[in-house]
Amino acid sequence: MDTNAVLYGDLERILLTREEIAKAVRELACRITHDYAGKEPVMICILKGACVFFTDLIREIDLPLTTEFMSVSSYGSSTKSSGVVRILKDLDRDISGKDVLVVEDIVDSGMSLSYLKGVLENRNAASISIVTLLDKPARRRVPLEVQYSCFNIPDAFVVGYGLDFDEKYRNLPDIGVLHPKIYGGQA
Ligand code: PRP
Repeated sequence: MDTNAVLYGDLERILLTREEIAKAVRELACRITHDYAGKEPVMICILKGACVFFTDLIREIDLPLTTEFMSVSSYGSSTKSSGVVRILKDLDRDISGKDVLVVEDIVDSGMSLSYLKGVLENRNAASISIVTLLDKPARRRVPLEVQYSCFNIPDAFVVGYGLDFDEKYRNLPDIGVLHPKIYGGQA
């Protein structure tokens, strides 16, 4: 998509270009290929935000991995603070004894992943690692160990490459900071 395309008009600036993202994804895939040599990891995509990152990442990993998809949603404002998430679509297969990589687009407060990791730990995986494209450490509310992260980013409203605002902008090939006029924030 050309950066003059309509959706780009809603951005304040581009934070990460598609070239920077592709390079980081390749490097991350190399690390995972190396770290999991001899293993057959299960890679779990957390829908929807991680879908673009996930499909690029798995194609760069040289391992006999398998894929799973999970869809989760918070219960609403009360649960946003408790971090409890509702599982809308669960894994199709048993992960006991498997080396699992949970793939997210962004870790913000860390509440969703912290809860989800607990759920998966109860299923007796051999190991569970967290993989994220973006990390906003300034927003963390609960301790969460993130084993693989491509970019630490500032506390800005980012969209693109799978990340949305009101379900839109996921199809932008780059990651940009959304203009505050779009979400009603202060300029
Ligand atoms: C985003 C993201 C993580 C979560 C991170 O999902 O994909 O799942 O929020 O936030 P946290 O660290 O504060 O828990 P979102 O609820 O926006 O759904 P989506 O992936 O379908 O866009």
